[in-house]
Amino acid sequence: MKTQVGIIGGGPSGLLLSQLLDLQGINNILLEKHSREYVLGRIRAGVLEHGFADLMREAKCGARMDAEGEIHDGFFIAHDGVKDRVDLKGLTGGNSVVVYGQTELTRDLYDARAAMGGNIIHNAEDVKPHDITTDAPYLTYRNGDDIIRIDCDYIIGADGFHGVSRKSIPKDKIALYERVYPFGWLGVLSRTKPVSPELIYAKHERGFALCSMRSQTLSRYYIQVPLTDTVEDWSDEAFWEELKQRLPAEVAANLETGPSIEKSIAPLRSFVAEPMRYGNMFLAGDAAHIVPPTGARGLNSAASDIYYLYHAMLDHYKNGDDTGLETYSQKALARVWKGQRFSWWMTTLLHRFPENSGFDDKLQQTDLEYLLSSEKALASLAENYVGLPF
Ligand code: APR
Ligand code: PHB
Repeated sequence: MKTQVGIIGGGPSGLLLSQLLDLQGINNILLEKHSREYVLGRIRAGVLEHGFADLMREAKCGARMDAEGEIHDGFFIAHDGVKDRVDLKGLTGGNSVVVYGQTELTRDLYDARAAMGGNIIHNAEDVKPHDITTDAPYLTYRNGDDIIRIDCDYIIGADGFHGVSRKSIPKDKIALYERVYPFGWLGVLSRTKPVSPELIYAKHERGFALCSMRSQTLSRYYIQVPLTDTVEDWSDEAFWEELKQRLPAEVAANLETGPSIEKSIAPLRSFVAEPMRYGNMFLAGDAAHIVPPTGARGLNSAASDIYYLYHAMLDHYKNGDDTGLETYSQKALARVWKGQRFSWWMTTLLHRFPENSGFDDKLQQTDLEYLLSSEKALASLAENYVGLPF
């Protein structure tokens, strides 16, 4: 087989790029290791920057997001028994975020690809990029006993943190930057009414908590837990009890509880791989970078890579201009690191760090007091949360 762009990975990054390129007549084939059902079974975050929402509309995938997603003009920071609102819209001169689950967004992208007859190959085994540094790179995958070859101009590594793309770059050609945090998030999804119309990020001496949602009947809650905890350690009752303790009394009193329909623990990690291009292979999304979920940047950082990559491909195929491809890594990384800084800062501000000294705790408390007392500091938080310009 032959195509212009060979994409590895059918998560949001790969699907969005495939869709955008196809709409412009740029031929592509996407190889996904798992089935569509498997990909859609993963529960991930759900806060979209306004720029990302625009990109979904440009990809002609925005209809359900616009109908069912919720526009949030602010969120709350709970601390010391009270909650303070961060007025995103007021602080940014009119910007907000869209709360719409990644699972639904991925479903919309799959539906759009299917409607256009997009070439997506599921259950592609042993996907491998070859001759990446030549002008004739190609992909292979296995289908039963057959090895299938796809020749392409460019390869896109959008295969997530555990994918094959980043790992196929020689170790001396890539630098990895990483911070692993000494805790994880225990998340629960429940068919209950969200406790608050806007998200609540809670700092508490027992640990961080987050009240989020997927819809007006589906809530998503998280609590910070030690890395040694397992899901089996947490009954639903124990989870709700702990969550309530970490919320202001007035919020806890209104919390509607119910059976969990999903429960999982995710470790928190910051990770960046540089550069994001090797020969004619370009990395995008989780394949190149991971953030702790505190600032809701993960999916959004992936979307910004796709924005740069899409425009670079357009310039190459439509105008014969390779500047975008040549500067992709540099441009994408500049924004990725800003997302890293923001996610690290939000995480540091709101979590309990078991090894912190008294001095560290005082600084953390002061950081929060300063934030909540300064319009300028709040404006900086809001500017980052709604998404920096591409
Ligand atoms: N071959 C083919 N596909 C692969 C391979 C492989 N060797 N390895 C992984 N994949 C697929 C995975 O099955 C997955 O569907 O690549 C996809 C990667 O998707 P994600 O991990 O979702 O990564 P990405 O598309 O970059 O999405 C960005 O933002 O909110 C964050 O982590 C969250 O998934 C989210 C991410
Ligand atoms: C979520 O709804 O899963 C969610 C929301 C905001 C975050 C992280 C996760 O910062």
